[in-house]
Amino acid sequence: MIIVPKLPSKPKLRTIGVLTSGGDAPGMNAAIRAVVRWADAHHVRTFGIRRGYTGILDRQVELLTSRSVANVIQRAGTFLKTSRCQAFLDSEHRARAAQILRQWDIEGLVVIGGDGSLTGAQRLAEESGIAVIGVPGTIDNDMGGTETTLGFDTAVNTALDAIDKIRDTADSHDRCFVVEVMGRSSGALATSVGLAGGAETILVPERETGIEEVIGNIDTSITRGRTNSIIVVAEGYQGGSGHDLTEQLNARGYHARACILGHIQRGGMPTAFDRNLGSVMGSAAAAHLTAGRSRQMVAMREGHIELVPIEEAVSGERLPLLNMLDLARTLAT
Ligand code: F6P
Repeated sequence: MIIVPKLPSKPKLRTIGVLTSGGDAPGMNAAIRAVVRWADAHHVRTFGIRRGYTGILDRQVELLTSRSVANVIQRAGTFLKTSRCQAFLDSEHRARAAQILRQWDIEGLVVIGGDGSLTGAQRLAEESGIAVIGVPGTIDNDMGGTETTLGFDTAVNTALDAIDKIRDTADSHDRCFVVEVMGRSSGALATSVGLAGGAETILVPERETGIEEVIGNIDTSITRGRTNSIIVVAEGYQGGSGHDLTEQLNARGYHARACILGHIQRGGMPTAFDRNLGSVMGSAAAAHLTAGRSRQMVAMREGHIELVPIEEAVSGERLPLLNMLDLARTLAT
């Protein structure tokens, strides 16, 4: 349940911008739509910036109205498009971006993206005084200060659907499958998918687990009568990729197969949760930005939508996963 706060409704800013940056995530369109429609309802103009920060530097800016965001809430990806803009790491380019935003009368920016994108937003605000509010948009759920991020729920469900299908073959052939999910530096996706999919081992960057432990888990399951196993490994697991792990298991006599889910986890229709989260977070971002707040990220804490300093969101302090990992292990054997 998302608890919708009472939002400020007397805007001080008259023109804002919105952009998506970094990896796309389902629910970003719902968030853009909410920014534009909240602003429209409160007589604030919104410019959409294409391809993230690259679009500011290339002046890919267009005025959006409520009609521009019709029929997007159910689509994944981002209709504004996105990019990972290397130039924005450089303060000279950020100063030029601020100058361009001012030429369009843009006083504040809603930035929808992950930690790299919000770090860029924070620097832009510090250096130029352009107000920024972040919306956490990443399937990785790897941001501080918030329990969840836009796109995470959809990605968990997409990966879970794949695991349920893989289990049919694992069961028919009495096989072991190693399923690699995304998560460059976070095991949040792997842990949620693993618990929901009954995986017997979940391998994440946050915990060191050696091959002997993986084999021990498989053998324990076999002793208990289980004839197949699913191992979920996060992309960022330090012990190797899904393919590496499968090779190691096969070298020890297990007939393992690897399945790398890859970018299918970033697409697909956003779940109702991600559409609602995008709608609430986008509205809250627009409301707080136009009320004069800056350098904050909209976050979900105990179901409530609140603001946290961007500094805290990008600090690397994340929600603890280890209890969930232990629970998944207990329930899988
Ligand atoms: O940040 C989201 C994410 O999907 C990571 O899990 C993954 O490592 C990365 O993006 C892949 O990025 P790209 O699509 O640029 O290869």
